[in-house]
Amino acid sequence: MSQTRLSNTPMAHIESLPINVSVVSQMIKQEVTLTGPSEELRSALLAMAEEYQAAGDDRYKSAIKDFSAFMHDLELYAQGLDLPPGWVQATTFWLVCDNHIIGRSTLRHHLTPELEREGGHIGYDIRPSERRKGYGTLILKLTLEKAMSLGLSRVLVTCDADNLASARIIEKNGGKLQGQVISDRSGKVVSQYWIEL
Ligand SMILES: CC(C)(COP(=O)(O)OP(=O)(O)OC[C@H]1O[C@@H](n2cnc3c(N)ncnc32)[C@H](O)[C@@H]1OP(=O)(O)O)[C@@H](O)C(=O)NCCC(=O)NCCS
Repeated sequence: MSQTRLSNTPMAHIESLPINVSVVSQMIKQEVTLTGPSEELRSALLAMAEEYQAAGDDRYKSAIKDFSAFMHDLELYAQGLDLPPGWVQATTFWLVCDNHIIGRSTLRHHLTPELEREGGHIGYDIRPSERRKGYGTLILKLTLEKAMSLGLSRVLVTCDADNLASARIIEKNGGKLQGQVISDRSGKVVSQYWIEL
């Protein structure tokens, strides 16, 4: 009797599907990967740069100005060539899903006394429209795997003490607060975390 009633409702059709819609949407969800910069992602990178600019943040303005020069510089940094004073060899990664760039991380291959105070081994950012979805936590996790592949056994990550999101990301990835200093650049308190790999 109850079966007859069910078959007369719209829900009966949905319940008779072999798998439900949310499972299907999860199955077709694209994989998120951490990958090296690529010319093929030019329009994706520029879309991210423009989103930042619209949000009042011009951190990718050099890419908008001259994408080829921007990519060339990334390549030079990755190889440790022609570095500006105080810079060290550093590899950049993009967090990508289905040709859409979600964020960027940079892995410095070693520290200088200045980076030991502020800057550390790893920096990252997630584009404004993709924040608060767990990607910040993911990009650090995946970049730590790259650090391990590079042969590092412990990694320093620093953030402004008032950057609560970044502090949380570092702690969720095993960061232990070792100290705090006043930034020479901003005058703000900077927290220094070490992560054992
Ligand atoms: C910091 C940043 C990377 C965070 O990225 P995100 O993708 O939003 O981070 P997640 O979604 O993984 O969130 C990590 C944690 O921070 C919390 N969080 C995120 N944004 C927050 C905010 N504005 N204020 C307080 N907490 C916040 C989240 O709730 C989460 O904590 P939970 O797991 O306990 O819930 C991003 O805001 C960013 O790119 N900022 C500008 C660049 C920057 O500050 N980089 C770090 C330099 S050290």
